[in-house]
Amino acid sequence: MAEFTFLKGPADWWRQAVVYQIYPRSYADQNGDGIGDLKGITSRVPYLKQLGVDAVWLSPFYPSELADGGYDVADYRNIDPRIGTLEEFDVLLETLHAAGIRIFIDIVPNHSSDQHEWFQAALKAAPGSPERDRYIFRDGKGEHGEIRPSELVSHFGPTAWTRITEPDGTPGQWYMHLFAKEQPDFNWDNQEVRDDFIKTMRFWSDRGVDGYRIDVAHALVKDLKNGHLPERQSYDVSVMKDDGTDDLFDRDEVHEIYASWRKVYNEYDPPRVAVAEAWVHANRRARYASTEGLGQSFAFDLLGTPWNAKKFHSTIDYQLKAADETGSSTTWVFSNHDVIRHATRFGLPESALANLPKWFRSADREKLIDKELGLARARAATMLVLALPGSTYLYQGEELGLQEPLNIPSEQMQDPQWFRNEGSISRDGCRVPMPWTRTGSSFGFGPGGSHLPQPEWFGEWSVEAQDGVAGSTLELYRKALKLRKGLVTAEKLTWVKHWFNPNVLHFVRPNGWTCVTNFGNKPVKLPKGELLLATADVVGGKLPANATAWLKA
Ligand code: NOJ
Ligand code: CA
Repeated sequence: MAEFTFLKGPADWWRQAVVYQIYPRSYADQNGDGIGDLKGITSRVPYLKQLGVDAVWLSPFYPSELADGGYDVADYRNIDPRIGTLEEFDVLLETLHAAGIRIFIDIVPNHSSDQHEWFQAALKAAPGSPERDRYIFRDGKGEHGEIRPSELVSHFGPTAWTRITEPDGTPGQWYMHLFAKEQPDFNWDNQEVRDDFIKTMRFWSDRGVDGYRIDVAHALVKDLKNGHLPERQSYDVSVMKDDGTDDLFDRDEVHEIYASWRKVYNEYDPPRVAVAEAWVHANRRARYASTEGLGQSFAFDLLGTPWNAKKFHSTIDYQLKAADETGSSTTWVFSNHDVIRHATRFGLPESALANLPKWFRSADREKLIDKELGLARARAATMLVLALPGSTYLYQGEELGLQEPLNIPSEQMQDPQWFRNEGSISRDGCRVPMPWTRTGSSFGFGPGGSHLPQPEWFGEWSVEAQDGVAGSTLELYRKALKLRKGLVTAEKLTWVKHWFNPNVLHFVRPNGWTCVTNFGNKPVKLPKGELLLATADVVGGKLPANATAWLKA
């Protein structure tokens, strides 16, 4: 494999990186089967280079029955043949590295697919066998074991227990799955499970993978001692204990696992990095972001923060302080493959935002969206966080200002959450394949169709429609990321207080890089300095409502 020595660079490259998430099945389809693939992604590396991202993160591409969009992994050290081969992965990695772009991959350690060879072996083995011990099998209650072992609910609803049929054909034990029944949870008290993930991490690190996004990082260790089984009716973080003793989530012992992974990461030059997806109390997040552990943790606070200067201010301050305490750097996220695209979210009234599933399931959901306002705020919000210390995670298509496609007929939806949990949204909308061209088969996604239907208006929002067009969202992102490379400075900021206007957030980085966001509904006067970028036209030195500007003092 070619050596890209410049990528060795400083070990802290990730601290203020812009990481672009790719949902592989929905990015670019090279062979026209309607499913995005690795060759498709490789063909888009010039686009990614021009966009100016520092790294990409690929959501799972492993062999999978797609019970949960690939988060049901059948083999952690292979590629789904519909997506590509290991050789094609190496080509993608080399092409990215040659373009100066690093690569994160998704690791899904809480559960595997029920098609994983270990789970298949467990089904064939006897209760109490070493094969069953890699997962969480228990006898049912009741005279014939017909009552599920506990009242634990699944995140995708309803129960987190499924009963199997034993090899002799009789109804048998039950296994635990926090997500779909096709996603059995591993037993992390089992040493083989621990060793196997170390092997997986080495497998990909040896191939040159730079970083890992760790799925449900807070759930691996559960209290299953002395016959105890967690019971839970809600996954709301607020009902989780915040002292490391909750029986299901965020237990202190989980950090022993991440400390062992850190040892592996540090064997490489530069050390491999990781970011935790950990839905925990904000005061506990720092543990995942510790330099002795994974190093970084997603902060999802802004996903639920309405367009309000005061609320943005306190969230930003909180995150920066928490990161500072562990020597980590914080993360900023507005969109990913699990949430409604932020150009749509910011166009919703606060009442809808307060209960997104209710809004999503209402017949007049489209009518409630102010798309123009949503896009203006989304652009302003993203430029605000791109000016902050920390790394920003972007999601494919947000650079086009895409709205959430809301027209997918239920029979074409794929998301298990939608089908099994009535109090949820469908995550299929944000996973609709990218529009690359104005017209043509699947808007340039590939020469065939698309595994999720694309709306008619997609072409007008395609890369082709925005390429070179002044003021387009694509050109805004390109300009911002290019400027940002030259502006990134020490991880500090100074707030400039606007006593006369509480709707303005204004901060300055140590090198004079200044960011002003107008959350209000009237234009505001910009401070002195060279105007570098604005998300809306600055007229007479005034920044319009719902806009952000960058200046250099
Ligand atoms: C979080 C992932 O982002 C989501 O897509 C998935 O359904 C669950 N973890 C389960 O793996
Ligand atoms: Ca394909």
